[in-house]
Amino acid sequence: MRGKFITVEGIDGAGKSTHMDWLAQRISAAGHVVRVTREPGGTPLGEKLRSLLLSEPMHAETEALLMFAARREHLAQVIAPALAGGTWIVCDRFTDASYAYQGGGRGLAASRLAQLESWVQGDLQPDLTLLFDLVPEEAKRRLAHARALDKFEQEQGLFFERVRAAYLERARQFPQRIHVIDASRSVESIRETLAGLLDDL
Ligand code: ADP
Ligand code: TYD
Repeated sequence: MRGKFITVEGIDGAGKSTHMDWLAQRISAAGHVVRVTREPGGTPLGEKLRSLLLSEPMHAETEALLMFAARREHLAQVIAPALAGGTWIVCDRFTDASYAYQGGGRGLAASRLAQLESWVQGDLQPDLTLLFDLVPEEAKRRLAHARALDKFEQEQGLFFERVRAAYLERARQFPQRIHVIDASRSVESIRETLAGLLDDL
């Protein structure tokens, strides 16, 4: 049987990384083989593109093209073969992030991103997307205590307001796939919600 494809999304600092290993353990405990991966990245070439994308200033369209180039490699090398072999994938960000950051954040037209999406992934879509939703001020407060900030994380509050709005618009467009999680709650309370969503998959 084909594995399930789960993606995890949200603005920087919303708290998604905190749950990645927990999600994998829960899926594994249910008897599935699971692989955790991330975008941009997930392959040796993708990780090289990631380090450029997270540090170098570049034109918004260049940024979108490199995100989708890394995604093409990730799909071909990792995601598609794993799913075909029955392995579940938990991916830290995927195409919804391109609509949110390059679309909402940088202002690229969604129709442009849709062209790249259709080229790179055909009909393949995640089975479940967990969207961690948090007001940017709180996400920023959390990040201030957490780590040195990369190129995206250094963006101003208005950028993240636009990213968040674009994510929520995606959730309105694809209500069956994208579940909005109120990330202002405690880690334990969020895990109860995640467990329910996994059980329903
Ligand atoms: P992301 O991967 O979305 O950028 P992280 O999971 O790295 O975010 O979390 C950012 C910071 O917020 C970390 O210091 C983390 O410990 C903290 N954090 C995560 N979830 C919560 C939560 N539910 N409540 C309070 N702090 C949290
Ligand atoms: P992330 O892995 O969440 O960073 P961290 O390890 O610091 O939590 O994501 C890296 C950044 O890449 C994040 O700021 C969002 C951005 N991004 C895009 O702009 N477009 C995309 O398509 C993807 C996948 C990520």
